[in-house]
Amino acid sequence: MLFPSFGVGKFAIFCPMNAQDLFNRLQSVKPGSVLCNYSYEFCESILPKINEINELKKERDAVILAHSYVAPEIILGVADFSGDSFKLSQDATQVKAKNIVFSAVRFMGETAKILNPEKNVYIPGPLTGCSLADSITGEQVLKLKEQYPDYTVVCYINTTADVKAACDVCVTSGNVMKIVKSINNDKILFVPDQLMGKNIINEMESCGVKKDIALCDGACYVHKQYDPELIQFFKSQNPNLKVVSHPECVSEVALLSDYVGSTGQMVSYIKSLPAESDVLLLTECGLVARMQYEHPDKHFVGSCSMCKYMKSNSLDNILETLRNPEKASRVELDEEVRVKAKKCIDAMFYYAGL
Ligand code: 13P
Ligand code: SF4
Repeated sequence: MLFPSFGVGKFAIFCPMNAQDLFNRLQSVKPGSVLCNYSYEFCESILPKINEINELKKERDAVILAHSYVAPEIILGVADFSGDSFKLSQDATQVKAKNIVFSAVRFMGETAKILNPEKNVYIPGPLTGCSLADSITGEQVLKLKEQYPDYTVVCYINTTADVKAACDVCVTSGNVMKIVKSINNDKILFVPDQLMGKNIINEMESCGVKKDIALCDGACYVHKQYDPELIQFFKSQNPNLKVVSHPECVSEVALLSDYVGSTGQMVSYIKSLPAESDVLLLTECGLVARMQYEHPDKHFVGSCSMCKYMKSNSLDNILETLRNPEKASRVELDEEVRVKAKKCIDAMFYYAGL
């Protein structure tokens, strides 16, 4: 039996899945949400959709990229590639298929299109936004540049193509610290995540790097909810608890964490922990589900915060996209914007490789 697996594209041969196979994969996922209680009967009920999607991928010359935050049945049932936003965009450059169904949010589909202009990129979910990407426009960045003429403008990857086109260097949550340190200008304007920006300022101070970092007021509505007092309480109950958080969290949470990193870095850190470890994973609950599936020997506590944008992806809207691609939402970018945005991403590759 051939299944798609994390980070590895296996989609050449189609084998129908049976309900027992699907149940075996999903039964370990129990983050506490009713959305994630996978009974055998539920697996049986969704199986026809999964098999039709996997069959249609072949017919339509399509692959499915799924962010770690989307529902587990998408990642474990139909995705050819899964992972964090940047890894998925890079995966997109490696696939031969002409059509990419990007089960995530719009800015991620745009990043895939910037790097793969010759491919069709479809976004299946109805809520394609992101509270960070929607917090600033390219025009606003151009105005800020007038206010901060000597600053290098660094944007988080959670931004639209228009914003990237107006900025100097793009960063991900995984490489932001390294890149900000490497930029040969002590004046940085960081957009749009104010909370990540504060974490950058703290990191620079703790390393003795002097930078004047100007910030905007964007925030991720999912990550900003985590409360330092709750972490302190959990830690007081279990001193061995490992607290793992994303740099989109408030700095008080980051400072209390044993590890702060991007989705991909958190996955590697959790992998390195010994069996039976207790982990409080402070990020969207889709990653908790993935960790429960990949590490049944570790215990995951708490966090069931969902991103409504990511969770608006479903087997139904993926199926609809593959059945009727002409009616689906396809990412289209103005070529001038795409080329400028690619320069900003290329600058990231340059600094990340230094
Ligand atoms: P990654 O870049 O780690 O995939 O995170 C994206 C995101 O939206 C975090 O909230
Ligand atoms: Fe955007 Fe936050 Fe959702 Fe990530 S979790 S896609 S930053 S709203």
